[in-house]
This record gives sequence, C-alpha cells and structure tokens, in this order.
Amino acid sequence: MRSREGNGDLFIWKEIQRIASILNSNLFRQLEEDTVIDGQPVSAGALVTVQLSALNTDEAVFKNHTKFDTKRLLENRNLEKNLIQFGIGKRACPGESLARAELYLIIGNLVLDFNLKPVGPAPEIKTTTPFGLMKRPPSFNIRFVPIEK
Ligand code: HEM
Repeated sequence: MRSREGNGDLFIWKEIQRIASILNSNLFRQLEEDTVIDGQPVSAGALVTVQLSALNTDEAVFKNHTKFDTKRLLENRNLEKNLIQFGIGKRACPGESLARAELYLIIGNLVLDFNLKPVGPAPEIKTTTPFGLMKRPPSFNIRFVPIEK
C-alpha cells in the first residue's frame, strides 16, 4: 500500500465509496407501463429508484458491513460485482472512468505521502443527510502529517 511500484489496485477508495455510498439513491426512472416489482404492482408514470446505500451495505453480501475494511474487496474479488456506485446499464454514470482515476490518484497520493490525523477526538463516522439523495459527512478538522521517506 505504501509502494508506488507494482500494479496492485488501491482498494481504500472502493471501501470508502461502499461504506459512504455518497449517492444515497440512484437517479429516478419513470415507468412507461404498469409493472410488478417484487410482487408489488406499480403503475405507469410512477417514479422508481434503487437505494444504492442499501445495496452497498447488504449484510448478506458485505459481512460486518458497518466495519471499514479495506481488505474485504482484496480478499474476495467477487464482492466487487455487488458494489454499485455508478449505476449499471445504459444510463450508468458516464463519468465513472474519470471519477475512478481522480479518486485513485488523489486518495492514493494522499495516503502515500501523509498520515491523516484527527484534530482532537476522532469524529464519529456518520452522515448528516441520511435520507437525502447525497450523503454529507459532519464537518471536522484533520491534520496532514507528512510521512518521512
Ligand atoms: C465518485 C464520483 C461519482 C459517482 C459516485 C457517480 C455516480 C453516478 C450515478 C449512481 C449515476 C446514476 C446512474 C443511473 O442512473 O443508473 C450517475 C449519473 C451521471 N453521472 Fe456520475 N458519478 C460520479 C462522478 C461523475 C463525473 C466525474 C461525471 C462527469 C464528468 C459524472 C457525470 C454523470 C452524468 C452526466 C450522469 C447522468 C447519466 C444519464 O442519466 O444518462 N459523474 N453518476
């Protein structure tokens, strides 16, 4: 993890995205015709969406889902198929590659060069907008302590 060499993927950001599910629910779709979803009739015109945060914290898939564990995806590569951060299908996020590259570079370089320390007690890991479309963390201060090399 501390090496700039090698081709190992950086799984920290994937686990951050899993546990944070920044986009709480997917964008909405409007049904063109009546349908049945999981046994429930749903009328044409209804708006439907998927709660991404529920998928990414499904205990049946992600054991001990509240634990921030960067090894879970490394140790079980099949798990990644169940991690839905950018939607799936034709309307999936077109910015996915750009976002992945940005996150890899930004978070990767930060953890390579700095230890991140809380100012005062470590903040509670929680969102201030649990029911909104987007999740936001509480405000807190951190120190970037350069790593001696
Ligand atoms: C961590 C960063 C990002 C996350 C988690 C994210 C997630 C998503 C999700 C879940 C959707 C809905 C997909 C669906 O409806 O099935 C979406 C749509 C979209 N995203 Fe992103 N996105 C990110 C970054 C970006 C970036 C960097 C761009 C552009 C440079 C972008 C552009 C778009 C656009 C234009 C749509 C609408 C696509 C459509 O409706 O056809 N996103 N994104």
